[in-house]
Amino acid sequence: MRNNHIIAANWKMNKTPQESYNFVKNLRDKLLDKPDVNIILCAPYTSLFYISSFFNSENFDLGAQNMHWASEGAYTGEISPDMLLASSVKWVILGHSERRHIFGETIDEITKKVVRAVREGLRPIFCFGEKLEERREGKTKEVLSGQLSPIIDRFNESDLQEMLFAYEPVWAIGTGLNAEPDQIQEAHHIVREFAGENVRILYGGSVTPANATELINVEGVDGFLVGGASLELESIWKIINCVYNARIRSN
Ligand code: PGA
Repeated sequence: MRNNHIIAANWKMNKTPQESYNFVKNLRDKLLDKPDVNIILCAPYTSLFYISSFFNSENFDLGAQNMHWASEGAYTGEISPDMLLASSVKWVILGHSERRHIFGETIDEITKKVVRAVREGLRPIFCFGEKLEERREGKTKEVLSGQLSPIIDRFNESDLQEMLFAYEPVWAIGTGLNAEPDQIQEAHHIVREFAGENVRILYGGSVTPANATELINVEGVDGFLVGGASLELESIWKIINCVYNARIRSN
């Protein structure tokens, strides 16, 4: 994993267990000859256990899209770290902009979740990103630092290297409008300034087969967090191939 490119698929609230099963079965077979790209598939809770047996190879991991910070108890509707671990989940998306902005998750709550995940041996895919008005007002650096430092301050370098940071500008998510290379580089630079040169950083926000090659070649990008384009086998497969070919060319 250390030097491989990484593609994390965020299915959001899509796919039944059976649809997930069929998709993952096909994808797993295709991935066998692409050992240099790591895939993390973040499925809905209801699919996790059902598809868990497919994730037995080095470069194919199962992820969840959220979790609660407590280990058990009276939290109706929530899922604990232990429940995820028992479903063979290795990664968990935390701080996604939809959790922050639709469900009102605060930096404090997100931080508690990240701390808990790391303590339990789950690896966070920590998402951060600015809104369009914040960028227009010249506040990007301030906003990103405000999201990143509560997390980064709590861990040492080796913990930080075990997680993934996903820069996802809010205005690029699901809009068809991806960030420009210089905007991505700037955000990735901010993370590395705080968290050290060796952290792994993904870009997310309208990644498609059409822009994947350009975006994977942006300096400092270790891979993608892909939403909409991860729902169809054909399009995620094209993105995987773009990343794989870029990796082969750079070796
Ligand atoms: P998108 O979503 O690829 O559909 O823009 C990315 C995400 O929300 O993680």
